Amino acid sequence: MQTDKITGEIATGIHQQAGNKSWLLVTEHSSYALGVTEEGLLLQLYWGARLPSFNDLPSVQLPAERSSQDVTLTLAREEYPALGGLRYGEFAAQAVFADGTRDIDLRFEGAEIGERQGLPELRLRLRDAVYPLDVILSYRVDSKNDLIIRSASFHNKGDEAILLERAFSAVWHLPAQFTPRHLTTLAGHWGGETRIQRQPVVAGTVQIESRKGVTGSNAYPWFAIDTQATEQLSEVYFGTIAWSGSWNLRVSTRITGETAIAGGIHDHDFAWTLAGQQSFETPDFVAGFAQDGINGSRHRLHRYIREHVLPQPQASQPRPVLYNSWEATFFDVTEEGQSKLAERAAELGVELFVVDDGWFPARNHDHAGLGDWRIDPQKFPNGLQPLVNRVNELGMQFGIWVEPEMVNPDSDLYRAHPDWIYHFPNRPRSEARNQLVLNVGRQDVQEYLITVLDKLIGDHNVSFIKWDMNRPISEPGWPEYVAAGNNGREVWVRHVEGVYTIMDTLRARHPNLSIESCSSGGSRADLGILERTDQVWSSDNTHPDARLFIQEGISHILPGRVMGDWVTDTPSDRVWNEIPLSYRFHVAMMGMLGIGGHLMHWSKEDLAEAKRWIAVYKQIRPIVQDGEQSWLISPTATEGNWAAVESLTTDASEAVVFAFRRTNPFWEVAPRLRLQGLQPTARYSVQSLGQTDNETQEYSGAALMNQGIALPLGRSSYASCILHLRLINR
Ligand code: GLA
Repeated sequence: MQTDKITGEIATGIHQQAGNKSWLLVTEHSSYALGVTEEGLLLQLYWGARLPSFNDLPSVQLPAERSSQDVTLTLAREEYPALGGLRYGEFAAQAVFADGTRDIDLRFEGAEIGERQGLPELRLRLRDAVYPLDVILSYRVDSKNDLIIRSASFHNKGDEAILLERAFSAVWHLPAQFTPRHLTTLAGHWGGETRIQRQPVVAGTVQIESRKGVTGSNAYPWFAIDTQATEQLSEVYFGTIAWSGSWNLRVSTRITGETAIAGGIHDHDFAWTLAGQQSFETPDFVAGFAQDGINGSRHRLHRYIREHVLPQPQASQPRPVLYNSWEATFFDVTEEGQSKLAERAAELGVELFVVDDGWFPARNHDHAGLGDWRIDPQKFPNGLQPLVNRVNELGMQFGIWVEPEMVNPDSDLYRAHPDWIYHFPNRPRSEARNQLVLNVGRQDVQEYLITVLDKLIGDHNVSFIKWDMNRPISEPGWPEYVAAGNNGREVWVRHVEGVYTIMDTLRARHPNLSIESCSSGGSRADLGILERTDQVWSSDNTHPDARLFIQEGISHILPGRVMGDWVTDTPSDRVWNEIPLSYRFHVAMMGMLGIGGHLMHWSKEDLAEAKRWIAVYKQIRPIVQDGEQSWLISPTATEGNWAAVESLTTDASEAVVFAFRRTNPFWEVAPRLRLQGLQPTARYSVQSLGQTDNETQEYSGAALMNQGIALPLGRSSYASCILHLRLINR
């Protein structure tokens, strides 16, 4: 066992106790311990702040039965409780064996320590006491980011099928405590995603979920549970499920204060037939522990996503400033119109020009065309290439919108293959936005989509696709599959696997391709999709007032380089009031900057100002996209009137601060803003960017963090600023 020579402290990584029956997973600031009881049951022993050694861990024992109503197996903190016996708490797995037995009895079988995807991995094999079912629990340890990444795989070692009815990724246990805890989750709807919800953790169960076949915007597969000391100091347990289909996350607390969090692929209408000698693997459930508050949990997840989730090499390159034509032209897409927009965009410094919906045949409205991924000869009589060439000549990359999982009934694809969508033979095929969902679980559908998308990308030098998904799955039937004796309830999982396969194949064939995940805005923002996409469209709502809420929420999951934000027009039919261009830019510059306004309608002054802000963005982009983002003033907590966000380089040598005040009815002066994470004794230069009067000031890190900094916001409504801090090397 590796220990520090001076302190005797156990090193980070995975440690196995003599006897190979208990393990300590050690990260820089946390420890997670588990062990096997003499009955062969696997229990969690500890999760929290880092422990110096194995010695202090409790013995691995089942708790005593408290009463015949409070039985041992329900009180035990089992790592992967499977439904069976006297278990009434949260459980991770449920199955039916070939003889009808609906009871699993998993016992420890063996452990292996290795490495997977660049992280050390502990694999614990559990085996049913009687039936040929093995479950392997995987624990990968990201020491630097204080994260444990868990998943489970099911292996049918026999010949008869086993029906899995629940296959969650993990159950996590939090110790009981007297100080109250709070649960934070994200909720929303189309045009109003990722709004922060906070509630006290009390006895009972909170369930958040999606049953739509896509991650969804009504809830997000993310949680944080904190015990607050001050705003910056609190113990936080947090986690997220890496799955882009239906998911379920349950937080259950006993009257005695213990909390268990269970989650993974939703078991709603789910069943998986595990044929003899076959395996089933769950997605990852990533969770961590931090003592530096909700911003600390944010930093850890962001770093993990950048370092281990996002596709390379794109994740190491700056994300380009994009222009998207949707709000400017909607379905009225023409070669001439797009070329003119492209010329304006290039003058401003845009690097990626994206043609949104409307470029394929019959797509003059949302009633027709989805599925026929060919260039519309009416809108592009010379094909798409002249536009692509123009965009490339202007020095920009070319991007295009697609919605591969969908068809309109009014499309050639649907007329040719009405059986390619999810349906039940004797039920109507429910339309939403006039469209139906392709059964992407089918191999022929996957092959079709790979062929047409590959051709679109290859023929037109496409560097970027915006992959949309505008409706949930309904009537989840696959008649041929069921007729062939298969299990129809597998479709929810097969759909997601199909989407992943198509994206992975396209990326393998086009290594420079980037993909944006969009689902009517931010309805598919999860770590599963982030393994194969480079950015996420946060919301169709680009109103800066709404965006501050949405961006605060989504930033719990998405790092700056992934969070797609646009500057759009005001007033418009979506934003009724006039909002200064600088304010709109500042809000959009907090993530991956895009422009979505109609540039042909912008005044000379606006274009000149936009050019300046884009130049400023490029200057601060490395910090905004890859720095540690801390929300210093929460719009949620200030009812949207205030927001302040700091992004800091890892070595604390440079920071960018965005600050916003929406209205000022009482003519008040802004309070000083206390920054975070700076080197206390170092001196920093502070400059307000994009201002004519941008005199540089100098302060110590300690003064900036404790005394705070005056915000140059003036007294007006819609006031905002960007401050740039640089460590002064003397
Ligand atoms: C969805 C997206 C929008 C846009 C439209 C096009 O609503 O969220 O950004 O692409 O589809 O139809």
